[in-house]
Amino acid sequence: MSTKDIFGLLEQAHRHAADYIDTVRDRPVFPRQGALDGLSVFDGSLPDNGLDPSEMLTLLHKHGSPATVAQTGGRYFGFVNGGIHPPALAARWLADAWDQNAALNVISPIAAKLEAQCETWLVSLFDLPQDTAAGLVTGTSTSLACGFATARNTLLARQGWDAAAQGLFGAPELKVVLCEQAHGTVFKALSFLGLGRDRVHSVPCDDQGRMRIDQVPELDDRTLLILAASNVNSGAFDDFRPLCEKAMSAKAWVHVDGAFGLWAAASPAKQHLTDGIELADSWSVDAHKTLNAPYDCGAILCRDRNALTSALQASGSYIQWSDDRDSMMYTPEMSRRARGIDLWATLVTMGRKGIADLIDQLCDGAELFADRLGKAGFRVLNDTVFNQVLVAGDTPQETEAILRIVQASGECWCGGSKWHGEPVIRISVCAVETTPADIKRSVAAFVSAKQEAHLRNAL
Ligand SMILES: Cc1ncc(COP(=O)(O)O)c(C=O)c1O
Repeated sequence: MSTKDIFGLLEQAHRHAADYIDTVRDRPVFPRQGALDGLSVFDGSLPDNGLDPSEMLTLLHKHGSPATVAQTGGRYFGFVNGGIHPPALAARWLADAWDQNAALNVISPIAAKLEAQCETWLVSLFDLPQDTAAGLVTGTSTSLACGFATARNTLLARQGWDAAAQGLFGAPELKVVLCEQAHGTVFKALSFLGLGRDRVHSVPCDDQGRMRIDQVPELDDRTLLILAASNVNSGAFDDFRPLCEKAMSAKAWVHVDGAFGLWAAASPAKQHLTDGIELADSWSVDAHKTLNAPYDCGAILCRDRNALTSALQASGSYIQWSDDRDSMMYTPEMSRRARGIDLWATLVTMGRKGIADLIDQLCDGAELFADRLGKAGFRVLNDTVFNQVLVAGDTPQETEAILRIVQASGECWCGGSKWHGEPVIRISVCAVETTPADIKRSVAAFVSAKQEAHLRNAL
């Protein structure tokens, strides 16, 4: 393809993206049925001869854009997804043109440099021990697996067992202690690391979803204790200091699932929520959630650099190590997109203050949501300490009807969940694009959904 043709395509992609960004606030937050039906244009067998690239882009914009969820339009509150920080989007475009593989310094010095910088900045933002190591992975699911693998190998090594070399056949038993409301990906990671999804000691939670300290069993030097920053539904934070101190005196390993909540540590107004978190051994966090970095961008952070890199080590006769930091030592993958570039772009253009402001903006948004919904007659079921709001109608049936009507309205989008056995609407304020006006408009959608649910019921 000639340089001229490449420019033409990039310009076309730019035009479509600009059109998308220009109209995303006016799009229904969840696509209408017509747009979903339009996806059938993507059916069919692989053509023998490739489609014209410009036609491909036209197809994507014409039928793909309308079938997107308008996550960057300000009124999407599902799944703690987050939006996108525009300077990071721009950096990602440039980085995509570079097409760097972040495996080794020798493969991409710029990717290696920016990953190393991100490591330093993340450790400083979260106020973690100085030599904490960070690997940039796809997201918290992978990060949890890296943290647990490191914990498993270290705890077993203390028992004289080399898990990396000998596997788990005949290995001493380990104990895993977690909160009964731990995220599903915690169980998934445990299951594929041979630690057993069902072998865990599950600690009951309090009414906000925090691990009950009085229910924590005896810990020892074969224990992996998994804490949460924060609860996936309520946004509540475990009481880290006493839990970590108890674990430290028992020589247990503590991992913190901080997928979206670890960011509280980067806000002076919210860092009381993560007090004591620096006493843990490893942490998981997503930059694509609260920080609004582009997908996919998670991190595994580990106090013991050697333990992390030995758990993730790989070798090969053709691998050319550098004297500096080679990123593949810190992640399960070898070849990998250079997500450190757009993470660096997010961090450097927000700065420490911008990051704190963003976190506070999301938390203020959640408070506004909770306050307005409470005044409008909804039941708010959690203490709104971070970005999560759990609301319900007067009955489970009413809650479910309101959720369905809100989701179909196109005005905003929230997910459903269960809270202490009751169906709830789960609101996650996590997009940089969300303004107070978006929240007020979304509350209005809730109010009219409640009225509609009543009317439907009356018919
Ligand atoms: C608390 C918590 N842990 C883990 C995960 C999994 O993270 P990811 O989707 O980045 O793999 C999530 C996702 O929302 C989460 O909220």
